[in-house]
Amino acid sequence: MNIKLANKNDIESIISISKTSAYISLTKENINYYINNEYHKIYILNNNNENCAFIILFIIDNVVDIIDFIVSKKHKRKGFGNALLKYSIKETFAKKITLDLHENNTPALSFYKSFGFNIIARRENYYEKPTKGDSLIMELNIK
Ligand SMILES: CC(C)(COP(=O)(O)OP(=O)(O)OC[C@H]1O[C@@H](n2cnc3c(N)ncnc32)[C@H](O)[C@@H]1OP(=O)(O)O)[C@@H](O)C(=O)NCCC(=O)NCCS
Repeated sequence: MNIKLANKNDIESIISISKTSAYISLTKENINYYINNEYHKIYILNNNNENCAFIILFIIDNVVDIIDFIVSKKHKRKGFGNALLKYSIKETFAKKITLDLHENNTPALSFYKSFGFNIIARRENYYEKPTKGDSLIMELNIK
């Protein structure tokens, strides 16, 4: 397994991984923007020559917001999500990580809770897709 910063050659595989989640919709233009913008980073995880997961981060100093994070369907529950998030924390020197997710996204909620994140706020009726629902804002403080 290896993890690296994504570049423009990874755009197609980022799109194909993102298509395996109903919660994430990304275009080539979005990804290109994130790759080239100084406040964003995309890390991509490769295993046995296959791109299996990516994470998109918005970084201001030591505060990191997770914009999108997905492990492709057939590679879930193999520890790749955990490895990618740990790597992201190390590489960005994050002291605080935040994110928001759909209240019905129970796999991701379980994942983030198991990692140590807490729910700090709820935004009512924030999401339209894939179903209407609230957004849960989660946070992890790193010592
Ligand atoms: C959330 C996500 C990134 C987790 O990635 P993953 O590689 O499957 O997670 P890991 O294998 O590293 O799991 C680590 C721990 O998280 C918890 N966990 C992960 N998926 C879970 C699930 N479906 N149900 C319950 N707990 C889960 C478990 O405690 C797991 O440890 P275990 O497998 O030893 O029990 C993945 O489910 C995903 O891509 N979801 C779709 C996209 C998404 O919703 N992204 C988040 C919104 S930003």
